[in-house]
Amino acid sequence: MMKALAAGLLMISAGCALADDPAAAKPAASAPADTRPPGQKLYARHCLPCHQADGYGVPNMQPAITDGTWVKSDPRALAMFVMTGGFNSGERKDSQNGNVMPPFAQLPDADLAQILTYIREKFGKGAPAVSAAEVADARSKLQKPPN
Ligand code: HEC
Repeated sequence: MMKALAAGLLMISAGCALADDPAAAKPAASAPADTRPPGQKLYARHCLPCHQADGYGVPNMQPAITDGTWVKSDPRALAMFVMTGGFNSGERKDSQNGNVMPPFAQLPDADLAQILTYIREKFGKGAPAVSAAEVADARSKLQKPPN
């Protein structure tokens, strides 16, 4: 009898805590652990707005990455493409793509490697992973002064 009463009181106080302080109950309910691989998270932040979650882009705005030429190409060529924003696509804006690709050279090698590995696996028919060393190599070639 005392036990049941105590349990009832506990339940009531728990209910009150929830009602009084909804924020206290929030984290557990609304923040499940983000288990996406790092490359997918970075893609979501930097690339998804234009190329979409499925990599098919948006017609007349930005092209599909999925099954494209670049995603499956040499890792360094792909890294250069992304670091320069399609080799300065703004300068040769075409009628097919209303948008231009911004450069991503500001991202660290490791982040770019994660993104490129993700898009190759997901949109490039499992093309091999890209390492941070390959991105660094591509970057060093980009920064070479023209001669
Ligand atoms: C503001 C929109 C925008 C964002 C953001 C963007 N892109 Fe692009 N992307 C474009 C456009 C426009 C093109 C076409 C450029 C061209 O043809 O020169 C393109 C082309 C590409 C291609 C070549 C597709 C092909 O034809 O094979 C790849 C690969 C690519 N983007 C990867 C990425 C990655 C990776 C990111 C994120 C780090 C990214 N893009 C972010 C607009 C965007």
